[in-house]
Amino acid sequence: MSLDMERVEMFRNVWSKLIVPVRPGPEGLALYCSQMQRLPQKRILVLGATPELVDMALELNADKVVSVERNPEIIAAMRQLGTRDWSKVQLIAGDWLEERSDFYSSFNCIICDGGLLFLHYPEQWKILFKLVYSYLTPGGVFIAKEWAEPTGERDYDSFIKKMISCFEAESKNKSRKETMELYIRLASELRLATFINTTQKDGSFDQTILLERLDSLIEELKRKFADPELVQITEAALKYLARSQSGTTDVVTGVRFEVADKLLSACGFISEHFPLPDPPIAEANYMFVARK
Ligand SMILES: C[S@@+](CC[C@H](N)C(=O)[O-])C[C@H]1O[C@@H](n2cnc3c(N)ncnc32)[C@H](O)[C@@H]1O
Repeated sequence: MSLDMERVEMFRNVWSKLIVPVRPGPEGLALYCSQMQRLPQKRILVLGATPELVDMALELNADKVVSVERNPEIIAAMRQLGTRDWSKVQLIAGDWLEERSDFYSSFNCIICDGGLLFLHYPEQWKILFKLVYSYLTPGGVFIAKEWAEPTGERDYDSFIKKMISCFEAESKNKSRKETMELYIRLASELRLATFINTTQKDGSFDQTILLERLDSLIEELKRKFADPELVQITEAALKYLARSQSGTTDVVTGVRFEVADKLLSACGFISEHFPLPDPPIAEANYMFVARK
């Protein structure tokens, strides 16, 4: 299959300009790692091609590592960002929701960092959980990270205003490198802050509000921080990340663990909840470990 190398480069750039909470943070990585380490033989399926997770499976000498991601250009970009030799990783351009009979009882660990955000609840979650269950061997684990707004009062406008002024205060008199790092942190955190108060009763995000917020934030940040390198970071987080079509974003669902747990247990899983301290809203990012 021929790849559009400009798009590969674009995805690689976008991803390299992002950190936690859109990429895995230290506590999340520690949980993935401790769960994988427990397995004597590691047969790992990564839903997505998150470089940190593929690298981790390789570092732990996994017997088999398979990654499924629907966009081949994203696969190529993630491969470039990986720090290990991925030549033995089976990279599949495909849809997680398509059943693969060759996967039945083939894995003892299936991991997915942030992918549930991309699936409609409950229909697509149910399909995925059922497939994942069938792909795992007894005792195998499904480990995933999701974002859902915790209860509590939050005002979006004042929240982001505070984040931006904190960045301005912190970055005063800092070196260029430090300023870039602080700005990458700001942009990655702002991306998830745009979800504040957008979750509807059915667990879906209000796409109209999300898009309005993303677009007006881009304008505001470009006005305030016009340095071309900062503009690239702004666009990576707010214009290109998970925005593959106009009129919507690719992130559609933010439901809490209790809700996920019901669907998981209906499939036969026994699950544990691991809230994450990831900024800007502690415990909004959470993980679960669901055991077959
Ligand atoms: C693993 S997730 C989350 C990565 C990162 N934490 C974020 O928020 O962007 C992102 C990837 O999942 C892929 N994806 C979403 N739904 C998919 C599906 N049904 N089948 C295969 N890949 C899918 C997207 O193309 C995207 O590259």
